[in-house]
Amino acid sequence: MAIQISPSILSADFAHLAAEAEAVSQSADWLHVDVMDNHFVPNLTLGLPVVEALRASASLPLDCHLMIEDPDRWAPSFAEAGAGSVTIHAEAARSPVRTLRTIRSSGARAGLALNPVTPVDGYAELLGELDMVLMMTVEPGFGGQPFLDMVLPKIRRARALINDSDADIWLQVDGGVSAETIERAAEAGADVFVAGSAVYGADDPGHAVDALRTQAEK
Ligand code: DX5
Ligand code: ZN
Repeated sequence: MAIQISPSILSADFAHLAAEAEAVSQSADWLHVDVMDNHFVPNLTLGLPVVEALRASASLPLDCHLMIEDPDRWAPSFAEAGAGSVTIHAEAARSPVRTLRTIRSSGARAGLALNPVTPVDGYAELLGELDMVLMMTVEPGFGGQPFLDMVLPKIRRARALINDSDADIWLQVDGGVSAETIERAAEAGADVFVAGSAVYGADDPGHAVDALRTQAEK
């Protein structure tokens, strides 16, 4: 299981996004882009124009995490804008099968995110439509929150469901991932790690990505 690291630009300097993306371009696998609409979550961040600009300037593929109401309406546009991966929230999608298929038909990987207390078993039927499951290990909306250990059993459960399905589905964790918590998430079966404050709060973001990868591979 290859480990991948996806630094979240939510904790980056928004006035210098291109430089912040460049700082991790040699060490990271993806650039995680948190889209928030102040409805699904109580915070407002960025949208399609910024994704389009990053797509034109950043070398890493974009891992777009849509924390928005009505992802069925918006997700296809992020895929068409050239995102490498588009993840919608299970709690917000009204037509997840159609939306996930539309994302894939635009050439992007399709992801489904679950909030900390959203059970995973009800979504087992969707695995065939997915390239990635995102397990939130904080309540979505803000960077810098502590990792919720109560999600670890659900990560293990998702890993078992994925392995049973024989499909090539990545298992991402997002929220509170740090040098201290990443080993627990990896041990539970995650293979893609989002980290915001642990990367962009560090003096050397590129080095912080390397250090996280080393910890996860232990
Ligand atoms: C939170 C976002 C995360 C956030 C993680 O709702 O989805 O991607 O940037 O930040 P840290 O790593 O600081 O918890
Ligand atoms: Zn995120």
